[in-house]
Amino acid sequence: MTTKKKRVLSGMRPTGPLHLGNLHGALLNWVEMQATYDCFFFIADWHALTSDYEDPGKISGYTLEIIKDWLSVGLSPEKSTLFVQSDIKEHAELFLIFSMITPVPWLERNPTYKDQMVQLNNKDLSTFGFLGYPVLQAADIIMYKANGVPVGVDQVPHVEITREIARRFNYFYGNVFPEPEAILTQTPKILGLDRRKMSKSYNNAIYLSDSPEEVTTKVSQMITDPQRARKSDPGDPGVCNVYEFHKLYSDPETTAGIAKECRSAEIGCVDCKKIMARTLLAALAPVHEKRDYYDSHPELVKNIIQEGCSKAGKVARQTMAEVRHVIGI
Ligand code: TRP
Ligand code: SF4
Repeated sequence: MTTKKKRVLSGMRPTGPLHLGNLHGALLNWVEMQATYDCFFFIADWHALTSDYEDPGKISGYTLEIIKDWLSVGLSPEKSTLFVQSDIKEHAELFLIFSMITPVPWLERNPTYKDQMVQLNNKDLSTFGFLGYPVLQAADIIMYKANGVPVGVDQVPHVEITREIARRFNYFYGNVFPEPEAILTQTPKILGLDRRKMSKSYNNAIYLSDSPEEVTTKVSQMITDPQRARKSDPGDPGVCNVYEFHKLYSDPETTAGIAKECRSAEIGCVDCKKIMARTLLAALAPVHEKRDYYDSHPELVKNIIQEGCSKAGKVARQTMAEVRHVIGI
């Protein structure tokens, strides 16, 4: 007899195409989890609306792009349930129910909320929906009775609020929901082309959907050891972002050889990047191949999304039947 797999659930806001930072920070981990967990992964498009409500035009396009990114790196509709939040209207109903039992101070003291209010100062985030962001996230997680939520550290406060909401719900209405746990994903050391955190807003990212030519050009533009002005200067691989990529993509001998030749000024950054671009492209070749396939089969992608939403919808309808039953309305 097989024991029932534990369920994990995670989501991404469709605010742009995915890049190598997302690959190493989340996706590779998700792909691996498919072997051990019952996985639910979804596009949090209503969450994107909490900050982009003035300009929602790109959300649905990004949703499709991200699903193709997922499929191209190996998330599989056979192993995981891949779906879109706004297709499952039950999320909105559970959000509403949870909003009845969530004390506002829990939301006001959420560190992510306070951070974002300061950082995204070009947007008016003084909305009810933005304050309630973690309540919607709690509905996403609890709807599927997920045991684990693979996320980066920045999302831990949201999972914590989710646990508190689950506990409070159980306290009022009976033991319906498990308290989910955050499964921390390590954040990668790789940086963007300019050595800042890789991010679409810095315009320094290598995207999963970039063509091989674009990848090569971007690698050639990467900032290396900032102290190394010419080839005759010895370099320090320890502070070089190109070297971090070698550590991830090149074989150990090549990587060790590069460190040595960099320190002794035997290899120049131009050549070093050429080697890195080649190994990076080799590693991305299967991703690029799958991407081309899905790009040329849009009806297939549509079907995958439809099937995922139909699987998720069944679970959501069951949960909501239970919720309505215990509350009595
Ligand atoms: N807030 C998450 C982020 O910005 C996205 C998200 C929405 C999510 N709902 C979720 C993540 C549920 C995990 C589980 O990254
Ligand atoms: Fe970085 Fe390579 Fe240049 Fe050394 S030789 S500084 S590791 S790019």
